[in-house]
Amino acid sequence: MSHNKYIAILGRQPELGLAELEAVVGADQVVPFGRAAALVSSLVDIDRLGMTIKFAKVIYEGALTDLKELPIDIDQLPFGEGKSPFALSLYGVQASRRDCEAAGLALKKRFKQRGSVRLIQPVSGVAVTAAGLKRNKVLAKGFELLVVVNGSHMILATTVGVQDIDAYAARDYGRPARSAGVGMLPPKLAQFLLNMTPAGQMVADPFCGTGVVLQEALLAGRAAWGSDLEPDMVEMTRTNLQWLAQQYGEIPDWNIQVADARNVTLPVGAAVVSEGYLGPALAVAPGLDQLRDIKQQTAQLYREVLKNWASQLPNGATVALCSPSWRLNGTWHHLGIIDELPKMGYSLMEFAHATTPLLYARPDQIVGRRLLLMRKS
Ligand SMILES: C[S@@+](CC[C@H](N)C(=O)[O-])C[C@H]1O[C@@H](n2cnc3c(N)ncnc32)[C@H](O)[C@@H]1O
Repeated sequence: MSHNKYIAILGRQPELGLAELEAVVGADQVVPFGRAAALVSSLVDIDRLGMTIKFAKVIYEGALTDLKELPIDIDQLPFGEGKSPFALSLYGVQASRRDCEAAGLALKKRFKQRGSVRLIQPVSGVAVTAAGLKRNKVLAKGFELLVVVNGSHMILATTVGVQDIDAYAARDYGRPARSAGVGMLPPKLAQFLLNMTPAGQMVADPFCGTGVVLQEALLAGRAAWGSDLEPDMVEMTRTNLQWLAQQYGEIPDWNIQVADARNVTLPVGAAVVSEGYLGPALAVAPGLDQLRDIKQQTAQLYREVLKNWASQLPNGATVALCSPSWRLNGTWHHLGIIDELPKMGYSLMEFAHATTPLLYARPDQIVGRRLLLMRKS
């Protein structure tokens, strides 16, 4: 990469953020920086990314310095009008809240020659959250400075975009038809899966459930096709997509139907983006015998489904599919179909920076989602 213009602060699962950036801008445009950030050589609209929290413009790259003497050219900072809000957030820095506050106050003093600022402190930890930035209108009326440290290297950057948590909540909890029983996909994970397939291509989700993948595809301007075994689920998707059209104005064409993913006919020219059946909902971890039965049944469904899709998809077609993995006593148990994928006609996508397997799970979840990102080969 010739020069690093931007830095992305990655979400709770940084390897997913890295994989997504690689897919969106190309692996050669991304350089991991520490555990939870990446340098990116071009500007990306953060609303397109599911797994990046903040996107910022690099204004200094060099050796780590004392936090109270940050090497900043004040003229480069985007001061707002009057007493504008200013937030300081630290990433990868061994510092206490008190250190963060002291660094913020030292900067505030230095900024006096340009104008007075209102220092916005993190509520906890040493970084202001997306909610904190929004509540204090930091990006609208002032600016945020990021200090990102990796060993003895330091990046200073001003935030250009932050994850829109209210928009995600509206697209998740605001939908009229929801079903906790089927394990709805978080919209940001749907965005991640969509980003693994060619932008603009029609999206097919043969396990559409309540329609989150189709919703996010439509919002990304892509035509959407969905099916589900259960007529009730197809109706939920219909309700949700009609609501989407009312809320968000004109959306591309969509089409949904009742069908079994094991013998469904896929639309021609689509990328498959889907969250497959995740097995029975589990409130407590299953015993090993129960898990063996669940795995056997679920793996058989995935085999039949993947075989059906492979018989229809052209070479090179992309499939981004969530499959279940189960956590027992801290150890992940996977479906066990990975070794069979080449024989079924799929190759897993490779990433230059992100370490695989990619798994999406909240810390307390028994059932996690293993992300099978594949090409028909
Ligand atoms: C985990 S849910 C998908 C949830 C969806 N991503 C959402 O956000 O609402 C899996 C869905 O697969 C459906 N399903 C299960 N077996 C199926 C099959 N053989 N063919 C098609 N759909 C199936 C279920 O009815 C359920 O809606």
